[in-house]
Amino acid sequence: MLSLLRTGLRTRQRIGSRGLGTAVQGFTAAVGNTPLIYLQTLSEQTGCKIFGKAEFQNPGGSIKDRAAVGVVRDAEEKGRIRPGGTVVEGTAGNTGIGLAHVCRSRGYKCVIFMPDTQSQEKIDLLRMLGAEVHPVPAVPFENPRNYNHQAREYAAKLDNAIWTDQFDNTANAYAHYVSTGPEIWEQTQGEIDGFICSTGTGGTLAGAGKYLKEKSGGKTQVWLADPPGSVLYTYVSSGGKLVERTGSSITEGIGQGRVTDNLATTINDLNGALMISDEKSIAMLYQLLDTEGLYLGASSALNVVAAVELAQKLGKGSRVVTVLCDGAYRYQSRVFSKKWLQSKGLYEAIPESYKKYVVLE
Ligand SMILES: Cc1ncc(COP(=O)(O)O)c(C=O)c1O
Repeated sequence: MLSLLRTGLRTRQRIGSRGLGTAVQGFTAAVGNTPLIYLQTLSEQTGCKIFGKAEFQNPGGSIKDRAAVGVVRDAEEKGRIRPGGTVVEGTAGNTGIGLAHVCRSRGYKCVIFMPDTQSQEKIDLLRMLGAEVHPVPAVPFENPRNYNHQAREYAAKLDNAIWTDQFDNTANAYAHYVSTGPEIWEQTQGEIDGFICSTGTGGTLAGAGKYLKEKSGGKTQVWLADPPGSVLYTYVSSGGKLVERTGSSITEGIGQGRVTDNLATTINDLNGALMISDEKSIAMLYQLLDTEGLYLGASSALNVVAAVELAQKLGKGSRVVTVLCDGAYRYQSRVFSKKWLQSKGLYEAIPESYKKYVVLE
């Protein structure tokens, strides 16, 4: 793990000595060190300081680039993969994109298993990035044919191959512990009262949250934000009750039916959780575009709603940070379509003055 600190996410590997100025060494070293954006309008409206970490600026376009670099470098350091090997993962979204980039830049083959309910756009993008994609029947995690289990079994049969296991491989959270957390601490100069974000694998919240809590001596509160259809809000607010998963959300990449190993490293140290409705998330997606000029996906919008609510709980003048996970580009055919919004019962949740942005049929 130590060399991750030197050459991976935490400190960019500069190649200035080779006459290339302050350039960084390849894709993996270009991940991280994203700007922290002060969200002016929301801060003024609340009398607090609300910040968003611009993870959409990572070279693969999302926060999952950090996890992708983290799990691959961890496997390299443990000798679990050698040059020319194969990286296998079960993912329907940003992790696959991050891994596909990392694999091309480090000379590995990338194989992605995903439920066959996913859009052709997603499959095509992964293939364009050089990944081999296996769409498999969409069955629950408990079923052995679930895409995650198929990915694990596929890797186990190959020589020089790893299953990166993003949900339960804590190298994911560690990547955020050594990069996202310290960056936020430095960018706020330690003046941070709250950190809140939603979770998919839980890597971001566990890694960055743990770092901020430790570094502040417990002063920074760490909260989980959850969409409808996820069990974690109830789990945290009830002190550990795991309920059946019911309901759904338009957000992608977040929400869970279980406590992953990544999340387990932090869940008992959380200060609380907030449940954010899709109505609030979609309205914020448009508000961020209109007032801050930010074109973001629904998980980022949910995170910002949660940051505003946490800041209001912590009181006037409080400083709260969240993450802006990815841009709206991967979802625009839905979230900017009137028909789609109406089909989800969300068109009326968008304030009249923002409806001009709903430009697709
Ligand atoms: C768009 C988006 N937001 C948030 C997350 C959650 O991040 P994490 O897996 O670190 O909990 C993901 C994860 O895939 C994602 O794709």
